[in-house]
Amino acid sequence: MRTIIKGGTVVNADGSTVADVLIDGETIAAVGRGLAGSALAEGVDRVIDASGKLVIPGAIDVHTHMELPFGGTFAKDTFETGTRAAAFGGTTTIIDFAVQSRGKSLREGLDAWHAKAEGNATIDYGFHMIMSDVNDDTLAEMDTLVAEGVTDFKLFTAYPGVFYSDDGAIYRAMQRTARNGGLIMMHAENGMAIDVVAADEVAAGHTDPYYHGIARYPSFEGEATNRVIRLAEAAGVPVYIVHLSARDAMDEVRAARDRGAMAFAETCPQYLFLSLDDMGIEHGFDGAKFICSPPLRTKDHAPELWKGLVTDDLQVVSTDHCPFDFHGQKDLGVGDFRKVPNGLPGVEDRVDLMHDGGVVGGHLTPERWVEIIATAPARMFGLAGRKGVVAAGADADLVIYDPARRHTISARTHHMNVDYSCYEGRSVIGGSDVVLSRGRVVVDQGEWRGEKGWGRFLKRQTAREYLR
Ligand code: URP
Ligand code: ZN
Ligand code: ZN
Repeated sequence: MRTIIKGGTVVNADGSTVADVLIDGETIAAVGRGLAGSALAEGVDRVIDASGKLVIPGAIDVHTHMELPFGGTFAKDTFETGTRAAAFGGTTTIIDFAVQSRGKSLREGLDAWHAKAEGNATIDYGFHMIMSDVNDDTLAEMDTLVAEGVTDFKLFTAYPGVFYSDDGAIYRAMQRTARNGGLIMMHAENGMAIDVVAADEVAAGHTDPYYHGIARYPSFEGEATNRVIRLAEAAGVPVYIVHLSARDAMDEVRAARDRGAMAFAETCPQYLFLSLDDMGIEHGFDGAKFICSPPLRTKDHAPELWKGLVTDDLQVVSTDHCPFDFHGQKDLGVGDFRKVPNGLPGVEDRVDLMHDGGVVGGHLTPERWVEIIATAPARMFGLAGRKGVVAAGADADLVIYDPARRHTISARTHHMNVDYSCYEGRSVIGGSDVVLSRGRVVVDQGEWRGEKGWGRFLKRQTAREYLR
């Protein structure tokens, strides 16, 4: 099957140009002016007119949690429903977090995630590994996983008793990635201190979701961010801070980068577009819809994150997609905010929110938008050249994007398998018209054309060259 996309503005991280894109099978064969009508494009099977539209690389979401077990329940999206929703939103690759349960091996966790995804994912996917135990056996397993293309390991200074690792465990894992080329991703909040404050709040009768946001101080995120970066510097390895939410943490990443540390970080749309007000005390238990960790912050934090995206102190925006129904899951925490499963839906909304708030909102050029949602994630997570770029030789993961289409985000129309939207009623400018995954149209003007099981596991390279 040969396809030509003609007349669109091809936007890459390093520049934009009006050009045609020729696809041969699953790969981009050529990008250039006047390809349509040239000998190269003779006899193509399909022509897609992209005049007036942008042609961007399929976006990459490097932080999703399909079916994550949390607080006695499971994130609602499966690999089928979650990747389908991702594709509707212009995302053609996800990297999900496989989970090592306490006392089990990394292998068992990874096998379980392969079983969830294989035959179900509709777009390509990779895995990071959540490590719950660091010991001689799991350290040795890290090397095997890196060789299998699962090159990153998430550790937590939060969630004591569940995913939490102490500093010694984190440092041992970092020593290992110094040797095997992997990358440590850190959930950086001081979970021990948070649990003390949270218990104090509940004892004082403060049980509403709002107090989830209050108990998790920004300074607890700043402290943990500084700590794990210092540990990484001592071990001589890069470190990637996930879901950075607070100015306090941003300051630590910036200071570290200024002194030459290999510190990298992502933020998420919820920290740019939502705030603690959304879960304010007047909302009562409705605020549980917005419970995630780190929590939503007061409004003064977001401008610092936008600044970080502009200066490249933040390199990536991912979603931390982790959806729980309001009715039947979030309500496990009625009467005690600590029992609300943590996480928000978002895999479908990121590309449009970042276009609307970033490009239309004047914070980002279209090229920087593409870099943050596609190109940098590919470079940083071992997919450079293959994903995240519109160029000959890359996978034909492409989005024909209408930068002028206005639409309204709503749970009534979204494709995520969850009963609410954090952005209900929000009007955004920009939307994906046609989405291709490895040359196959999976979404066409709002219609699903994809297929369960089309998505393939991505064996990723380590990203050492880029991270140095
Ligand atoms: O609240 C969140 N972020 N839930 C998902 C798990 C995690 O910490 O990323
Ligand atoms: Zn986390
Ligand atoms: Zn997460």
